[in-house]
Amino acid sequence: MCGIVGYLGDKNSKEILLSGLKELEYRGYDSAGIAVLQNGKVDSFKAIGKLVNLEEKTKDYITEDFSIGIGHTRWATHGKPTELNAHPHIGDESYVVHNGIIENYAELKKQLIADGVTFLSQTDTEVIVHQFEKNLKISDSAFEAFRKTISELKGAYATLLVTKGESKTIFFAKNGSPMLVGVNDDNEKYFASSDTPLIGQCSDVNYFEDGDYGYVTPTELAIFTKDDVKKEAIFTKLSTNKLSAQKDGFRFFMEKEIYEQSSVIADTLLGRLYDDEILFDELDDSLFDGINEIKLCACGTSYHSALTATYLFERYAKIKTSVEVASEFRYRQPIMSKDTLFVVISQSGETADTLETLKMAKAAGLKTLVICNVDNSSMVRLADACILTRAGVEKGVASTKAFATQVTVFWMMALYLAKRNNSLSSQEIVKQINLLREVPSIVKVEDEMHERIKRLSKRYLHGHGFFFIGRDVFYPLALEGALKLKEISYLHAEGYPSGEMKHGPIALADPELFTIALLPQHLLYEKAKSNVEELSARDSTICAISSLAFDKADDFIPINECTDYMLEFFEMMIVVQIFSLEISARLGNDVDMPRNLAKSVTVE
Ligand code: AGP
Repeated sequence: MCGIVGYLGDKNSKEILLSGLKELEYRGYDSAGIAVLQNGKVDSFKAIGKLVNLEEKTKDYITEDFSIGIGHTRWATHGKPTELNAHPHIGDESYVVHNGIIENYAELKKQLIADGVTFLSQTDTEVIVHQFEKNLKISDSAFEAFRKTISELKGAYATLLVTKGESKTIFFAKNGSPMLVGVNDDNEKYFASSDTPLIGQCSDVNYFEDGDYGYVTPTELAIFTKDDVKKEAIFTKLSTNKLSAQKDGFRFFMEKEIYEQSSVIADTLLGRLYDDEILFDELDDSLFDGINEIKLCACGTSYHSALTATYLFERYAKIKTSVEVASEFRYRQPIMSKDTLFVVISQSGETADTLETLKMAKAAGLKTLVICNVDNSSMVRLADACILTRAGVEKGVASTKAFATQVTVFWMMALYLAKRNNSLSSQEIVKQINLLREVPSIVKVEDEMHERIKRLSKRYLHGHGFFFIGRDVFYPLALEGALKLKEISYLHAEGYPSGEMKHGPIALADPELFTIALLPQHLLYEKAKSNVEELSARDSTICAISSLAFDKADDFIPINECTDYMLEFFEMMIVVQIFSLEISARLGNDVDMPRNLAKSVTVE
């Protein structure tokens, strides 16, 4: 996720901005930049890659006396990681940094270009500074121009803007992306996307609410609501623990990332859902010309999201789809045909086995697509096309939000292809799109459910193993739940299709064998229920996850009643993620950095 910093005061603003950006490095980024307005002149610097490159570019630049400045670390969502796409974005006399996604940037950009504006970047952000300068020409004040600009934006944003004509003012607006402002006794103002850059600089902070906008000067902090009503700042004391602040107060990055799934899935959906169709503005529809089959290839958790996709693609898009484990595929001399679209899935975009299969597919002349979370990664640079998952940096080695956003992308892709193949009615597509819109709220973690799982986890700290079982898309979810548990608790767990139990595994059934049964109401419930009853009859300890009460379970984790199996999928995903986290926490393991594992497996 992008990081934002801002400063107004008499200190060395360059150093303050750069050190603030360093405190935000944990959020992940691929480029960075600052802009400083002092003595009526703006100096702006940008660099791709790590902050050391920006520090190198600014090493001879001095800021002293009063100045205002803004800074940004960019996690690419629209446009490649390049200097031109790095923030701040520049108008004739104004500069802007932004975190989030401007959903209506395309229409604003089209009008601005028609008005004669020249765009330098591929980003959505750049429309903000040009729209502001367009409004500046017809407004009584810079603030009025800023207010009007913000009212014209749709989507998520945390943004800071400075303009030469207002050398003592920073304009701000927040909607959907986090931002706070800090003050101190030296009449300084500090902005940041999260607490850590402000720790040690100021003690009182105001966390902006959605819709807030306004400006700061040396003597004023003016905040307005989305209804243009002025409001008082609500100051709270800033935490002093930087590591805790990076985790936003959660115990582990993995826990924070489970809780972030609601907001990052909202980002994944932004700008892609329309009333009756899905659009990926980074895809050229011709990618699918001549394609009669899709082959997916991945490792680990990414393999599980790909396996989920096979059900959705064949069910909704009626296109033959298969999935491969990359480390197997690369050595079995596979037959590849050019009417197959080869899709690799990778959070990091660097997994060696997956990358190698991508090279094989390209060498065989197949069209290739990568579903990835890291722009400019090896796979993104190599594939013919890319869909970014927009999960933001995932620090926990055990993948959670990357998986959630991958499945979200695949669900959207299935509908995109269904429309293209005319394999679903438009009313069915509309229905599915409306279901997708519910996912961000579905994956909000409820305290009561988390507490229940935390209490229940004490019963699952031993035993000779776990079966996670499910049917259809709940089979890849069972695999994912088992992998999560293995990865961070070091307890043995296997994922199985529920229907496979009687083909051997049921021989293991006894009270020390724990079965985590995924029982969705809206997909093969009776079939899955009877499989679980077979295990229960043989005295296996059953933990059922369902919206329907199940009296043959030893433990029961209820999920909310949903209208569709895919919403049940996301509900149960949260449960299995938290289940593994709480067991691992009880065992005293390193949840974020489990033994023997790396976040990205760049070797065979
Ligand atoms: C998932 O929790 C694991 N960390 C691991 O299986 C991971 O999914 C796998 O190594 C693939 O990584 P990638 O998505 O970056 O390619």
